[in-house]
Amino acid sequence: MSAAVSRSVLVLNGPNLGRLGSRQPEVYGSADLADLAEALVGWAPEGWTSEVRQTDDESELIAWLHEAVDTRRPVILNPAAFTHYSYAVRDAAVLVTEAGLPLVEVHISNPHARESFRQHSTISAVATGVVAGFGFDSYRLALAAITG
Ligand code: DQA
Repeated sequence: MSAAVSRSVLVLNGPNLGRLGSRQPEVYGSADLADLAEALVGWAPEGWTSEVRQTDDESELIAWLHEAVDTRRPVILNPAAFTHYSYAVRDAAVLVTEAGLPLVEVHISNPHARESFRQHSTISAVATGVVAGFGFDSYRLALAAITG
């Protein structure tokens, strides 16, 4: 039997999401990652916590996914542009879900309603589920799915 799943959710964000707030506000809104972290505190049911991280570095994101496996933490993952081409992030995501941990892919925008290159995800087929197009509420819905 595998060990219990932690109630501390890793909320991992990929490249350029550190620029939220000023990056294309017409697409991503005007709130930044600090606002997201604050909102998540309010959304977490009692006994649950979350930790928001962001990197522009593929290897760092992969290391965080390995950490999720080693510490048995559920993952909310916005892989940003890595979504569309990174087989390395996909392979790391597989390690999470194959360890019996939930991994929910999220997007602030709806990539399917945008440029054609955004309409393919290397991650979706290996994620537990996908939430896209609801702004920061995509993260709220992902957290609700994980915390049940
Ligand atoms: C995104 C969508 C991606 O296509 C894009 O590269 C991002 C953000 C989103 O949250 O809507 O950086 O993942």
